[in-house]
Amino acid sequence: MKTLQAHLILPPDTNHHGTIFGGKVLAYIDEIAAITSMKHAGGNTVTVSIDSVDFLSSAHVGDILELESMVVYTGKTSITVFVRVTAFHVETGESTLTTESFVTMVAVDENGKPRPVSQVVIETEEQRRLFEQVKLNRALKYMKNK
Ligand SMILES: CC(C)(COP(=O)(O)OP(=O)(O)OC[C@H]1O[C@@H](n2cnc3c(N)ncnc32)[C@H](O)[C@@H]1OP(=O)(O)O)[C@@H](O)C(=O)NCCC(=O)NCCS
Repeated sequence: MKTLQAHLILPPDTNHHGTIFGGKVLAYIDEIAAITSMKHAGGNTVTVSIDSVDFLSSAHVGDILELESMVVYTGKTSITVFVRVTAFHVETGESTLTTESFVTMVAVDENGKPRPVSQVVIETEEQRRLFEQVKLNRALKYMKNK
């Protein structure tokens, strides 16, 4: 199940080049990852790690920033969400991929302690590819932290 969001890019969101601040995009990514993981967990979640963020191109004032996210990996209590951000250019009707990110959230109980989540169901080839990517990244992170 995908979660979608759209935001009109306004002057306060942009720098002196008229392009959106990276921190603004990050805030949107964190928000949609939270919503996506809460829908999966059926309760509260907290951000434990912004695993990766790749800024691939910039978005400009007047563009519509469109975010799409889905759960791609689950552990016992953690949920990894993939977020794709595109800029829709109103005059041309074209969309440009601007950012991709993986965010890991943890489902928590009323005391803020991790609680188990149901396992993600892989339905598409894209989900399978992203699942394998997260599995590999988690293994690498675990090895580095050992
Ligand atoms: C997230 C939190 C509840 C985890 O508590 P904890 O006692 O460390 O719990 P655990 O060690 O059992 O880890 C819980 C899960 O998080 C995962 N995790 C912990 N640290 C992680 C990290 N740095 N990166 C990715 N996953 C991580 C664990 O692998 C585990 O996943 P699993 O159950 O699917 O195997 C706790 O660290 C916390 O409250 N952090 C602050 C969250 C917050 O305020 N976020 C907002 C940022 S401003």
